Amino acid sequence: MLGTKIQDAFNRQMNAEFHSSFLYLSMSAYLQALNLKGIAHWMRLQAEEEHAHAMKFFDFINHRGGEVRLVEVAAPSAKWDSPLAALEAASQHECKITGDINELVDLAAAHKDHASHAFLHWFVTEQVEEEAAVQEIRDKLKLGGDSGAGLLLIDHGLAQRTPHATGDA
Ligand code: FEO
Repeated sequence: MLGTKIQDAFNRQMNAEFHSSFLYLSMSAYLQALNLKGIAHWMRLQAEEEHAHAMKFFDFINHRGGEVRLVEVAAPSAKWDSPLAALEAASQHECKITGDINELVDLAAAHKDHASHAFLHWFVTEQVEEEAAVQEIRDKLKLGGDSGAGLLLIDHGLAQRTPHATGDA
């Protein structure tokens, strides 16, 4: 059975993951409008991953006998100054999510909730990958790829991204 504080915190994180999904879907639409179909494709898959992250919290809360509370998801921005600005925002967002996950780990430890603590380990590891993936694209754009041929080369490369296998989102 989930304690009230953990249940509330996990519901908040579930909402934050749904917001991440909205944010990346919005970035995908922005990039698609610029005809950067490869980066848009990458962002769309990222949005799907975030939805899967939210569903991991959804399932865990249910499995532990808790109460899932779905609330309004905050609307994301719709426009950025450039593809680089969008990736910069994504990078900052992932750092914020990492901080949120770390706080949940601390909360689970403080409440001696070992099941929640073990559940969160997957997210701790995932955040390392999430931050690195977004920062790699941001850094490539910074290295002269935010316009012209460099940008088109990065766009072409990101079009190759394939979805993770189910359960490995
Ligand atoms: Fe679900 Fe990108 O953190």
